[in-house]
Amino acid sequence: MRHKPVLLQEAVQSLNLKPDSVVLDGTLGSGGHSREILSLLGPRGLLISLDRDNDAVLRCAKHYERDERWVCRQSNFSDADDVLDLLKIEKLDGALLDLGFSSDQLESGERGFSFDRPGPLDMRMDASGGQTAADLLRDLTRYELEHLFVRFGEERWARKFAERICLVRSKTPIETTQDLVRVINEALPRAYSYPAGKRPPWARHHPATKVFQALRIAVNQELENLASALPKIFSRLKRGGRMSVISFHSLEDRIVKQQFKAWHIQKQGALIYKKPVEASDAEVNENPRSRSAKLRTIEKL
Ligand SMILES: C[S@@+](CC[C@H](N)C(=O)[O-])C[C@H]1O[C@@H](n2cnc3c(N)ncnc32)[C@H](O)[C@@H]1O
Repeated sequence: MRHKPVLLQEAVQSLNLKPDSVVLDGTLGSGGHSREILSLLGPRGLLISLDRDNDAVLRCAKHYERDERWVCRQSNFSDADDVLDLLKIEKLDGALLDLGFSSDQLESGERGFSFDRPGPLDMRMDASGGQTAADLLRDLTRYELEHLFVRFGEERWARKFAERICLVRSKTPIETTQDLVRVINEALPRAYSYPAGKRPPWARHHPATKVFQALRIAVNQELENLASALPKIFSRLKRGGRMSVISFHSLEDRIVKQQFKAWHIQKQGALIYKKPVEASDAEVNENPRSRSAKLRTIEKL
């Protein structure tokens, strides 16, 4: 299934674009938001789209190669200022970050993002380097694993899962998504476990959900990248330019909320919405992923 963009109209309209705007989309994904932005730009507008994942850039190539107003690069959005320097673009009218991972990444088993697709425990968005989730499960101490599951997953059974991982890996390496799901199921207290495929009403998530989220955040250093990208991108906005961020969990949203609030208090920026914009019931019905989405927008003063 192709990634369905979340809060598509709301996010693009929040940027208040003009036909000749220069816009950054730091999270190209399947290009849903980028294409909507392009539809609002005239012949003198420009869109720069980035993604850490080269597959995303390749997937959109046939579109951007035909459109002179669209430049796509493989890059971390925390390096957006370097990309803008190389392209000799000084200032932006708008910037959008739609955080997290795309359905295309989740559904591709070999990337290892999903607990219900068999594949290696990789989880790197940029597959060209860095530690994989399997590396972390092999190298971190029991205490470090527990801390990671608590900090990035708010996982209730963090200690039990970390202990079980250490016990299992002393005999056999944990290298695939199925290996990890099995270890988690073994570690769960009996009262909380249930047969595969038979999720009881009290179980809101699959027991592996939070561990997978925590590993993905750690592997991709998602929170560090977000915290360092916001000031860099904000500094490239023109006066009156806007930055919008869509986040999907409280750890990301807290970083965005606090940074935007600080700029608001320092009178560097104006918050466009008092409360974050959330998906309508109709969108949540059509695309359950949008349920946790929060859109925040700031305008540079
Ligand atoms: C939710 S998807 C974006 C979907 C996109 N807006 C669309 O409409 O198709 C998030 C994308 O951001 C990318 N991404 C995540 N962190 C990134 C980072 N630090 N720098 C660049 N891209 C990143 C992921 O690889 C993924 O493709």
